[in-house]
Amino acid sequence: MLAHRLIERKRDGGRIEPGEWRALIGAYAAGHIPDYQMAAFLMAAYLRGLDRAETVALTDAMLASGAAFDLAALAPARVDKHSTGGVGDKVSLVLAPLVASLGVVVPMMSGRSLGHTGGTLDKLEAIPGMRTDLSLAAARAQLERVGCVLMGQTDEIAPADRRLYALRDATATVESVPLIAASIMSKKLAESLTGLVLDIKRGSGSFLPDLERGLELAHTMIAIAADRGCETVALITAMDRPLGRAVGNALETEEAIHALRGEGPPDLMAVTYALGAEMLVLGGAAATRDEARRRMEVAISSGRAAEKMQAIIEAQGGNPAVVDDPAVLPQAEACELYEAPRSGFVARVEPRAVGRGVIALGGGRTRMEDTVDPTVGFVITVKPGDWVNAGEPLATVFARDDAGIAAGRAALADAIRIADEAEHPLPLISHRITAAGATRYEPNDDPPAP
Ligand code: URA
Repeated sequence: MLAHRLIERKRDGGRIEPGEWRALIGAYAAGHIPDYQMAAFLMAAYLRGLDRAETVALTDAMLASGAAFDLAALAPARVDKHSTGGVGDKVSLVLAPLVASLGVVVPMMSGRSLGHTGGTLDKLEAIPGMRTDLSLAAARAQLERVGCVLMGQTDEIAPADRRLYALRDATATVESVPLIAASIMSKKLAESLTGLVLDIKRGSGSFLPDLERGLELAHTMIAIAADRGCETVALITAMDRPLGRAVGNALETEEAIHALRGEGPPDLMAVTYALGAEMLVLGGAAATRDEARRRMEVAISSGRAAEKMQAIIEAQGGNPAVVDDPAVLPQAEACELYEAPRSGFVARVEPRAVGRGVIALGGGRTRMEDTVDPTVGFVITVKPGDWVNAGEPLATVFARDDAGIAAGRAALADAIRIADEAEHPLPLISHRITAAGATRYEPNDDPPAP
């Protein structure tokens, strides 16, 4: 009866009260509401929208459906980062140990690859022995010892969201800003965070390509978090081309290790430093973003960030030698250069086509139960705007066999467009959003010298 009444009200554009959200989500999580009714409700919510108070109430109801970390006694500041996902986005693998090496506790819960986008857990699990399925108790103990954990969302965290997200995926109701915001924040708030940094991707490879919807998502998540005492800052970053050069699990982990040792590609480092600066300021480890940036540069050049990564890997059962020698990672059976078919400017490196190429090689998922081959993928050494000569190497394909090489070459032919004119890519980092509003991104915040 409850579900029928709430479906009807949402269908007609009405509001759902906080107590009703709690009852609805609680009954669904307990199996008292069938999927067909919840699917109808989700479609009504998708079409009619949720106001801010409803979004907060939904977040709370999903959070309350499971357990949460209790980290208040562990450290005064706990800060995480969430990215809306992209292609070649291995930032978490660099950022978490880097920020933790500077004294901020980082309880990072990440996801797996799905569709054209990659997932941090799959990249981490390319490291021999590395486990990401930690219980909350094990994760807490690791946070106490090492200051950072890189883990998956456990069954204990927001179980209602897990079921609802699967239902949304099957009923074309994912792309709703309030539903996305509540889904992400119900999991993030379970981490007992005092600060959160959001990397909201825009551009053709992101799941909300428009800037306006990205800004709306940022404002909504910042407002939900503010209500719960978790200060949040969002950056809008470009996903109209892959981030860094490597795409594919072990290849991205290798690139992240190089980045921790000071040899990361410039775009990966720029996004990592920008997000890291926000995390360090939120975590009280730096007074300004400029100071934070200087501290991160020292953490990398001194080897401190790489040592923290070694400690995390060791704590989670992985082989820490990978940080000194990335050849410890599993290697592809076959690899081949992909050359420019003509001279011209690189007009586009289309992230969706590259991500689909990784799936074609066996390195991604179209369904959650698919297994991934960690070894396959691409290293693409050109960026939009570069001039290339016919026959010049643009990328390397890493595959299982000759059929994989052919599939990889076809994906690159689709993804990399060479033209007579250069096109303007999106700015790498375009906006910074806080509770006070959105501004164009300025990397520096130090007061000018007197
Ligand atoms: N990621 C989530 O966790 N939830 C959504 O709704 C969308 C992306």
